[in-house]
Amino acid sequence: MTAPREVVVVGGTGMLRPAVHELLRTGARVVCVARRPERAERGAPDTGELVPVPADWAAPRELGEAVKGAVEGRRVAEALLWVHTPFDEGVHAALVPLLSADATVVQLWGSSGVDPRRSRPEPTHYAPPRSYRSVVLGFADTGRGTRWLTNQEISDAALRGLRDSEPKQIAGRVEPWSDRP
Ligand SMILES: NC(=O)c1ccc[n+]([C@@H]2O[C@H](COP(=O)([O-])OP(=O)(O)OC[C@H]3O[C@@H](n4cnc5c(N)ncnc54)[C@H](OP(=O)(O)O)[C@@H]3O)[C@@H](O)[C@H]2O)c1
Repeated sequence: MTAPREVVVVGGTGMLRPAVHELLRTGARVVCVARRPERAERGAPDTGELVPVPADWAAPRELGEAVKGAVEGRRVAEALLWVHTPFDEGVHAALVPLLSADATVVQLWGSSGVDPRRSRPEPTHYAPPRSYRSVVLGFADTGRGTRWLTNQEISDAALRGLRDSEPKQIAGRVEPWSDRP
C-alpha cells in the first residue's frame, strides 16, 4: 500500500488556507505550521488529516523539532513555505534534515512594497534530486488597473508550484513592477 501524500505547509492559515483545504480535499495529510495553526480548521474538509503544529518561525530549531514530531519519523517529501524574510533561512535549515532525498520545496515570495524578485537569495540546500521552486507573487489586471492577488489565486499558484517542475514561477504578473497596485 502506498503511503498517503503528506505536505508540510508553513504559514498555511492565511493566504495559503485555500491550498491547505484543497490538499485535504484531495486526500493529503497536511502538517500546518503557524503560531495559531488551528486557524486552518475554519472551513476545512473534515478528513481528520489536518495536523496543526504550533511553532514560531523566529525559533526555527523548535519549529523543526515540532515538525519532526508531527511527521513521526516519515521523511518530508513536499513542503510549501510562506515565511517572512529573513526568517526563511532558519526555516530552511530546520527542515532540511527532515526532507526526503528527492523532496520538493516550494517557497512563495511576495511583498507589496519591494519587487519580490529583488529580495530573493537562492537557498543552497536543495541540490538535485531535490527540487526547490520559487513562486513570486505578482499582481493581476482589472479593467481599470491592477490589484493584488486573492488568497485563492495565491493558493492556486502555490499548488501549481508543487506540480510544475519549473524552478521559477510567477503568479499573476510582475512586469513592469511599476504597474503594481
Ligand atoms: N502579490 C500579492 O498579491 C501578495 C503578496 C503577499 C501578500 N499578499 C496579501 O497580503 C496579505 C497579508 O500577508 P501575510 O504575510 O500577513 O500573510 P498571511 O498568509 O495572511 O498570514 C501569514 C501566515 O504566516 C503565519 N505566521 C505569521 N507569523 C508567523 C511566525 N512568526 N511564525 C510562524 N508562522 C507565522 C500566520 O499564522 P500565525 O499568525 O498564526 O502565526 C499565517 O499562517 C495576505 O493575505 C495576501 O493576500 C498579497
